[in-house]
Amino acid sequence: MPKSHSSKRAGKNDRKPSISALVRDIKKQLLSDLQSDPPISTAQLKTKYLGKQGMVTRAMKEIGAVAPEKRSEAGKELNTLKLWAEGQMSRVSETEKMRLDSGIASDDGFDVTAPFPPNTTGSERPGLEPKVGTLHPLTTVGEKAIRIFESMGFHLVEARRLDDDYNSFEALNIPKGHPARDLWDTFWTEDRLIPIPHTSAMQNRILSSVKPPIREIIVGKCFRNEATDASHEHTFYQLEGVYVDKNVTLTDLIGTLSHFMNAFYGRDIKYKIQPSYFPFVEPGLEFLIECLVCGQRGCPFCHYSKWVEVIPCGPIHPNVLRESGLNPDEYSGFAWGLGFDRLVILRNQISDIRLLHSGDLKFLEQFR
Ligand code: DAH
Repeated sequence: MPKSHSSKRAGKNDRKPSISALVRDIKKQLLSDLQSDPPISTAQLKTKYLGKQGMVTRAMKEIGAVAPEKRSEAGKELNTLKLWAEGQMSRVSETEKMRLDSGIASDDGFDVTAPFPPNTTGSERPGLEPKVGTLHPLTTVGEKAIRIFESMGFHLVEARRLDDDYNSFEALNIPKGHPARDLWDTFWTEDRLIPIPHTSAMQNRILSSVKPPIREIIVGKCFRNEATDASHEHTFYQLEGVYVDKNVTLTDLIGTLSHFMNAFYGRDIKYKIQPSYFPFVEPGLEFLIECLVCGQRGCPFCHYSKWVEVIPCGPIHPNVLRESGLNPDEYSGFAWGLGFDRLVILRNQISDIRLLHSGDLKFLEQFR
């Protein structure tokens, strides 16, 4: 093999790295040592860099080999490196001292605050991994529902947490003593206010303050005096919709809700309407969709009926319009009350509604 011409010609000194390159390498090495895990003690760092045989000390001895005209520049570079290295060491030793003084670390490296066993490294130190949380499924589902209705032109309002008898019942065509009050077994505060039993409690406020055309959605946390079981919970989230204009018909209601369902599940969802009863709508209706848990084969969730009631709704009762100052001969409208809990349960096939408000991390971690 022919000998390389260049190696023949190269002088001994030409192969030595320049002072600048040396300084750069030492800096790089020291920076990586400063971040080493487990940490290197200041004493060790001092020996490695500033001791008699230390990297900085040895680099300073190289100055003699530098060409005389470049010596002063190289000298400055080396001095700056030394000062910088010393500064880094004293910073590290201060931190070490603070940790020793405060008793959170001992000089054998044991740190009582470390959330991992001593002498473990890298990924074995689970405590160092940030625990990333996620949004609650009720939040994700609620936000998604809100975005869909907003895209259809509805405006979002937040419900009150506490309201009075008038708004919760009377203005909704449920006078005192009306048997339908039993549908909303309610908590009362000592001064006769009610943690809202349904978001319909906001209807009168909306209808009497917004000029038609009215397209509002109201989201709120509702409370009922329930004996809880797998399908009943005393606390739940609801989204109320209110639509009022001239010549509003039942097909507008059905179109709105079926469009929502299709957008929510991302495909055409089978639905049907059946009669129900709520004093503030006439007729009272129930909007049902195909059971998504069993794919309409029949299961305990749909009580083997293949359909699931998801949205109680109906055309707003003339008495409710009148009570809000709207003339029922001129205006008509519809309203609905959608439970977020139901949507989550249907989407995720959850067997017990109480899990949603339990704060149980084992349950919630499944929604990552
Ligand atoms: N407020 C009713 C409840 O929580 C649900 C409801 C039914 C709301 C019919 C409506 C409606 O707006 O039209 O039980």
